[in-house]
Amino acid sequence: MKQLVTCICVLAPLEIVAKAIKRVIGVLFLTGLMVVASCESTTSTKPPAKPVDTTDELTIFLTGNELGALKPCGCSGGQLGGLDRRAAVLNTVPKHKRLIVDTGSLVKSDSEQDLLKFNIIIEAFKLLDYDLVNLSEKDIEICNNLGLLGSIGSVLNIISSHGAADVNVPTKFTKRLSLKGKTVVVTVAAFNAKSAPIEQIEELFTPHQERLSGAGHAINILILNHCDPAIIDSIAKRAPIVDCLVCPADSDESRIIGDPNKRPLVFSVGRFGRYIGRLQISEAAKGKGKLKLSFRAIPVEENLEQQSSLVELYKDYQQLVKQSNLLEKYPRFALPNGLEYTGSESCKLCHDYEYQKWRAAAFREPGSQAHADAYATLEQASSQFDPECVVCHVVGMEYESGFVSEEKTGHLKNVGCENCHGPGSEHIRTLGKAETTEPKSVCLDCHTPEHSGDYAANERSFLEKIIHWGEKNAPDNFK
Ligand code: HEC
Ligand code: HEC
Ligand code: HEC
Ligand code: HEC
Repeated sequence: MKQLVTCICVLAPLEIVAKAIKRVIGVLFLTGLMVVASCESTTSTKPPAKPVDTTDELTIFLTGNELGALKPCGCSGGQLGGLDRRAAVLNTVPKHKRLIVDTGSLVKSDSEQDLLKFNIIIEAFKLLDYDLVNLSEKDIEICNNLGLLGSIGSVLNIISSHGAADVNVPTKFTKRLSLKGKTVVVTVAAFNAKSAPIEQIEELFTPHQERLSGAGHAINILILNHCDPAIIDSIAKRAPIVDCLVCPADSDESRIIGDPNKRPLVFSVGRFGRYIGRLQISEAAKGKGKLKLSFRAIPVEENLEQQSSLVELYKDYQQLVKQSNLLEKYPRFALPNGLEYTGSESCKLCHDYEYQKWRAAAFREPGSQAHADAYATLEQASSQFDPECVVCHVVGMEYESGFVSEEKTGHLKNVGCENCHGPGSEHIRTLGKAETTEPKSVCLDCHTPEHSGDYAANERSFLEKIIHWGEKNAPDNFK
C-alpha cells in the first residue's frame, strides 16, 4: 500500500506536466507544420528545380548529446552552438545530397524544465528537416512518461535500441541517395552494445546484394550506446559490413576515434550542439566502385546566420518557462542558524562607500556591465524567468529567503553584497558585531570557464574592477 501511494505521488506531477506539454506541443507542432507547408507552397509557385548532380559527393550530418543545450547563454563571447544556427551549416548541402541524423540524448534529466526542452528540441529537429533521430534509453523513458512514444514516430523518423515492450520502435532506417547516377543506400541502425550479441549486427543491415551487385553502394552506420576499444575491435572483426561506428560523446567537439583511414570509421558527435559532424561520401579515386569516407567537425559559430523559425521557437520556450513558474518551484535549502537575506540596500546605511562603489562599477567602462545590473541583463535577453540563468544573476536563489521573483523579492535582484559576503540578517541585527558568515560565493563559482571565458586568465583585472574596500580613510567611508 505504501508503495502504491508513493507511486501516485511521483506520477501525478509528471502527468500534469505531460498534459501541459502535450497541449503546448500540439500548438507547436501545428505552427511547425504550417511553417513547413508555407515554405513548400512558396517554392511550388516556381518551376520545380530539377535536382542536378553537380557535386560528386553526399553528406551525412550527425549531431547528438544536446543534453538540453538549446542555445549558448551569451554570458561571454565566442560561445559555440545554438539550434537556431544549425541550419546555416546543414543547408550548405541540398536536400537530395544529404542525410541529417541526430544520435540522441536530448536532455540531461526528467526535471520539468528538461521535459519542456525535450519537446522544443523535437520541434527544432522538424523545423531543421532532420531525416532521423535515434532515441537513447533516457529519451525513450521520457517519451514514454510524456505519452509521446506512440505519436512521435508520425512526426519524425525515429530509431532506438531501447524500444519499449508495448510500442514498436524501429532499430534501423534507410535512405537512398544518388551519387554520380548510382544509388547509395545509407542505413543507420541503433545497437545496444551493452547487452546485445555482436552477431545481431549483420541482421540489422540490408543483405549484401546491393553492395555487391555493382549497380550501387551501401553505407552502413551503427550508432552505439557504449564504446570501448574491445567493442570497436570485435565489431570491426566480426561485423565487417559496418562502415561507420558512432560512439557516445567524450568531449564537446565531435572527433574521429582511431585511424581515419580504416573501416569502420569510428567517431563521436560531441556535446551541447557546439559542433556538427560532417561525414562526406565520394567515390574513391582509384579502386572502381569503392567509396571514400571523410569526417570533420564543423563548429557552430556565433557569426552564422540564425534561422528565424528557430529564434521564434526559443521565444516559445522562454514563454513556457515563464508559464511553468519554474523559479517559484526551484528547490531551496534552509540557511544555517535561521539566517536570512536582507538585500544590498540594507547594507547601504552603514557601508555607503562600498555600496556606491558596487553600484558605480556598472558604469566604469562603456559597454561594461556589472554585478549591480546583472538582472537587467537577463531582462534584455528575456531570460529573467529561467532558473538556469537567474541562479548566477541574483542573490541566494538556491536558499530560503533568497530570490524568488522580481515581485516577491525585488530587493534581491542582481549580484549583490550577500552573494560574496553571505546573508546579512544577523550582522545587521548586531549592528556589525557578528561577522557575516557562509554561504559565500567566490568569483569562480559564477565566473566559470563556460560563463566567463576571459576570467581565468585575467583574475587580477576582474578583481580590480570591483574593488570597493581598503579605503577606510575615504571621506565618505563607513564610520
Ligand atoms: C553570484 C555570481 C557571481 C559571483 C560570485 C561573482 N560574479 Fe562577477 N559577474 C557575475 C555576473 C552575472 C556578471 C555579469 C553582469 C552583467 O553583465 O549583467 C558579472 C560581471 C563581472 C564583471 C564585469 C565584467 C565585464 O564585462 O566588465 C567583473 C569585473 C566581475 N564580475 C568580477 C567578479 C569578481 C572579481 C568576483 C569575485 C570577487 C565576482 N565577479 C564574483 C556574477 C558573479
Ligand atoms: C554559472 C553562472 C552563470 C549562469 C548559470 C548564467 N550566467 Fe550569465 N553571466 C555570468 C557571468 C559570470 C557573466 C559575466 C561574464 C564576463 O564578463 O566574463 C555573465 C554575463 C551575462 C551576460 C552579459 C554578456 C555581455 O556581453 O555583457 C548575459 C547577456 C548573460 N550573462 C545571460 C545569461 C543567460 C541568458 C543565462 C541563462 C541561459 C545565463 N546568463 C546564465 C554567469 C552566469
Ligand atoms: C563579487 C563579490 C562581492 C560583492 C558583490 C561585494 N563584495 Fe564586498 N568584498 C568582496 C571582496 C572579495 C572583498 C575583499 C576581500 C575580503 O575582505 O573578503 C570585499 C570587501 C568588503 C568589505 C571590507 C571588508 C574588510 O574586512 O575590510 C566590506 C565592508 C564590503 N566588502 C562590503 C560590501 C557591500 C556592502 C557590498 C554591496 C554593496 C559588497 N561588499 C559587495 C567581494 C564582494
Ligand atoms: C548597522 C550597521 C551595519 C549594517 C546595516 C551592515 N553592516 Fe557590515 N559592518 C558593520 C560594522 C560596524 C562592521 C565592522 C567594521 C569594521 O570592522 O571596520 C561591519 C563589517 C562588515 C564586513 C567586514 C567584516 C565581516 O563581517 O566580514 C563586511 C564584509 C560587511 N560588514 C558586510 C555587510 C553587508 C554585506 C551588509 C548588508 C547585508 C552589511 N555589512 C550591513 C555595520 C553594518
